[in-house]
Amino acid sequence: MGEVVIHEHDVVVIGAGGAGLRAAIEASTAGVSVAMICKSMLGKAHTVMAEGGAAAALANKDPRDSWQTHFRDTMKGGKYLGDWRMAQIHAQQAPDRIRELEQWGAVFDRTPKGMTSQRNFGGHTYPRLAHIGDATGLELIRTLQQRGIHMGMDVFMEFTVRRLFKTGGRVSGCFAYDRNDGSLHVFRAKTIVLATGGITRCWEVCSGSWEYTGEGHALAYWAGAEMGDMEFVQFHPTGMIWPPSVKGILVTEGVRGEGGMLSNAEGRRFMFDYVPEMYADEFADTEKEALAWVDEVVSGKLATKRRPPELLTRDVVAKAINSERAAGRASEHGGAYLDISWRNPDEVKKKLPGMYHQFKELAAVDITKQRMEVGPTAHYVMGGVKVDPYTQETSIPGLYAAGEVATGLHGANRLGGNSLSDLIVFGKIAGEQAAGAAKEASEFSAIAQSEIDEVVTETLAPLLREGGENPAKVVNDLREMMQNKAGIIRTGGLLLEAITDLDELEERAAATSPGGGRTYNPGWHQALELSAMIDVSRMCALAAHRREESRGAHTRDDFPETDHSHWGKVTSVISLGEGGSMDIGFASYPEIPGELTALLDAEDLHEG
Ligand code: FUM
Repeated sequence: MGEVVIHEHDVVVIGAGGAGLRAAIEASTAGVSVAMICKSMLGKAHTVMAEGGAAAALANKDPRDSWQTHFRDTMKGGKYLGDWRMAQIHAQQAPDRIRELEQWGAVFDRTPKGMTSQRNFGGHTYPRLAHIGDATGLELIRTLQQRGIHMGMDVFMEFTVRRLFKTGGRVSGCFAYDRNDGSLHVFRAKTIVLATGGITRCWEVCSGSWEYTGEGHALAYWAGAEMGDMEFVQFHPTGMIWPPSVKGILVTEGVRGEGGMLSNAEGRRFMFDYVPEMYADEFADTEKEALAWVDEVVSGKLATKRRPPELLTRDVVAKAINSERAAGRASEHGGAYLDISWRNPDEVKKKLPGMYHQFKELAAVDITKQRMEVGPTAHYVMGGVKVDPYTQETSIPGLYAAGEVATGLHGANRLGGNSLSDLIVFGKIAGEQAAGAAKEASEFSAIAQSEIDEVVTETLAPLLREGGENPAKVVNDLREMMQNKAGIIRTGGLLLEAITDLDELEERAAATSPGGGRTYNPGWHQALELSAMIDVSRMCALAAHRREESRGAHTRDDFPETDHSHWGKVTSVISLGEGGSMDIGFASYPEIPGELTALLDAEDLHEG
């Protein structure tokens, strides 16, 4: 029953999205043996949901762009809570990573002069997103996969990792099971790279696919790693809202980058109302100015100050849509209207082919003629495993993390497009560092048999239970609860309720009985996933309850102000305490050096 297959690789990469693939390529290039474990099929990763592009200061569309401006935009967008060291590395290295992708065969859209085209996105001062229509993440994965599979790495598809092993305080391997046949596997490893993505399936309305249940975050936490900024969950302003079966599916920010405008039930372009001070002069006549913007988008000649309010950062736009709904001005099905139909239909189809087909097929809406209906959808978690900014090593020696599962770069709110570039910049660094450390370790460490036995028993336990609830019911209740109590707008009272509810959900989860055996049993997978979903939800609710201010993606109705003195200087740190408690503390990054402070907007620094 509990027979275990043993594997041995120098570096094990868990996750096969952009960060995992990029790390695996780098580690393989360094000449070590690499295993890549992925929860679903290779090529099916949440990375494909970053549709609109990868941010990199190539300065192809606007020569004024530079890494310094990208650094500033990232820090500003993250409400100054991000790790400036990661923001600097990211802004400096992203252009090379994009050029490298091109050399490896990625087919980016081109400017008339044949350079990589770049589009506007919220919070980016200049057109900065290298893109492939609205399928950038898909092309990124295709390119990396094509390159990776020729490098000799071993790929384990449809495996779920359940535990990281440590020996003498250092990571020594992991345990996984095969989702198809239920076989059990131990991977001995000298180093491990976690690249498992995010946690957004813990919310009812989300853009994430079924894999996004937070195992990577939970694995690191259970192994004793420090977790940071877990209160910050990004609600992308534009997900589909109708019909109900497609609720949450992403509508790329590229629509707004190409001139799409938001309006409410009264036909009012409401975003102006949320930032009147920014637009008082530039947009005195909104309709005329909006048309001017479209001309600028089409011509590619943009005057920065005239950016439309739809391209404010995601936190601002999502909250505005939410407020319109609360004020009774929602679109027919409870969101807002997004209109790109005033652009030339051929341009729309060329620039946004995915959106055109998505709405045509899923909602019977022709976006070249009709408005879309959109609303916020949980899209990304800024929080995750804390890493060294230069090596991506976590607080557990030998364990590295990159991409969405790691924290630091995005602070309190991520700019669109900064995720794809994050994956390739920090995926490369993690792979390189993990390979280097694996080469230095001469031997594989022994893994205690008692630990293997324990996780095998735990993994098989749901199959032995009878008469309990269906795990799917507990999963649904958890997602609904998080949507209602730890969603876009939070209060201390609701968050405390969420924490109590999670204790109850944990008890229910422990008693679920999926029935059936180990072969092709989705109920069993859900019963196991629940432990991760509950702990990551708890981290979010706990950190959100403690942060008594509103900042970026975290909005407290009972603390609506941004507190620049205390909360602006600390990030939350969660770790597993003695006896299994979830402990929370706070920490700060080192002070930003003067030459980088000089790049930031002085009035944002709130000094003196
Ligand atoms: O809207 C989008 O295309 C998403 C991009 C991102 O999250 O970076």
